[in-house]
Amino acid sequence: MKRIFLDLGKQSIANGFLKENEIENEYFYNLSIGFNEKIKLVSLMNFVDGTIMFNDSYVYHSSSSKTMRDHFKSVADMIKEHFNPNSILEIGSNDGVFLKHFHKKNVVAVEPCSNFAKITHKMGYKTYAEFWDKNLAEKIENKHGKMDLVYAANCICHIPNLDETFSAINNILNDDGIIIFEDPSLLEMLERNSYDQIYDEHAHIFSVLALNNILKKNGLEIFKVENIKPHGGSNRIFTKELLGRYDIDKSVNENIDLELKKGLDKFKTYEKFAERVQNSKQDLINLLKDLKAKGKKIISYGATSKSSIIFNFCEIDTKYIDYIIDTTPDKQEKLSPGMHIPVISPEEGLNETVDYAFLGAWNYEKEILNKEKNFIDRGGKFITHVPYVRILQ
Ligand code: TYD
Repeated sequence: MKRIFLDLGKQSIANGFLKENEIENEYFYNLSIGFNEKIKLVSLMNFVDGTIMFNDSYVYHSSSSKTMRDHFKSVADMIKEHFNPNSILEIGSNDGVFLKHFHKKNVVAVEPCSNFAKITHKMGYKTYAEFWDKNLAEKIENKHGKMDLVYAANCICHIPNLDETFSAINNILNDDGIIIFEDPSLLEMLERNSYDQIYDEHAHIFSVLALNNILKKNGLEIFKVENIKPHGGSNRIFTKELLGRYDIDKSVNENIDLELKKGLDKFKTYEKFAERVQNSKQDLINLLKDLKAKGKKIISYGATSKSSIIFNFCEIDTKYIDYIIDTTPDKQEKLSPGMHIPVISPEEGLNETVDYAFLGAWNYEKEILNKEKNFIDRGGKFITHVPYVRILQ
């Protein structure tokens, strides 16, 4: 049973940037999150139907930042060097940012957002535009055989039914096959106070502790954990079948021990986090009110799912934020979900009239600060809420 610890109120689909004429039919739901004390898993109290989020109008391109392009190249290099698989299944292949580093005959891709499945299909990679489940796993195995390696980045945490997901992966794996998957880290979210990681797509926020419990239930075992940078701190989990040949690396127990030390097995820890979130909300509203009272122009940098959650939760609209800038063409000339703040291109929006830019894409702080030297040199300032609300100096 899940026990609720945080309610982020009425929200719309975090990546659901929309046109003016779509406002009337905008989908809303209540976003709250809880802790399962038995398996130690943090999950949304109510899952949003996958077809509402992942369909032919999905807008998030994994290739949209250099940070992520470099990241996926380095994962591909690591996989070739250490595991050299003959057959790879990628679940959640997005725009092909990972699989393009492998030969077409070695990869099968799964991507339920059909606009993205079309992209990788055109690149020559066999792509199934379907949701991962037992039936799809059987279909793929019948057609392509078993797999040496299953890879998934920022995808497993999107799937409500983890038992079915992992047992289907287990079935399609060759003997000695492995799964490598990476998702945002629960410990990092708690430490950074980044409550904006909680949104419709993230059905779960994983600790190594919880994954260890769930994987074991499904005949799988973690043999290595890497703490990696993407999305404000993620874990890359290397998993094998229970009798698989890889030795268990010390990183597994190190991560679990640290999580236990930080109280990730206790409800109290999550209640304290919820208190910090309420304070963060108040601090952000106070800062924006103060800047507006001084006549400053504030915009937001990066039309992220994360910023959609913050703006809806804190009820921040165009009273505070004039517009959001984002490089993704599919998000431009649209409105943010819920608060309906316009999204425009950086070329148009980051001009001399801007005093402050809220870092909606705080996870790319370094890349953005490097890129926006002109804005900073002329006195422009960035605002962040991670790990606490402040103006970056
Ligand atoms: P991300 O933080 O990965 O989003 P989410 O919260 O939805 O998971 O997305 C980053 C967004 O920021 C993406 O829409 C591209 C945009 N972006 C810019 O507009 N300029 C930049 O310099 C960078 C790094 C990202």
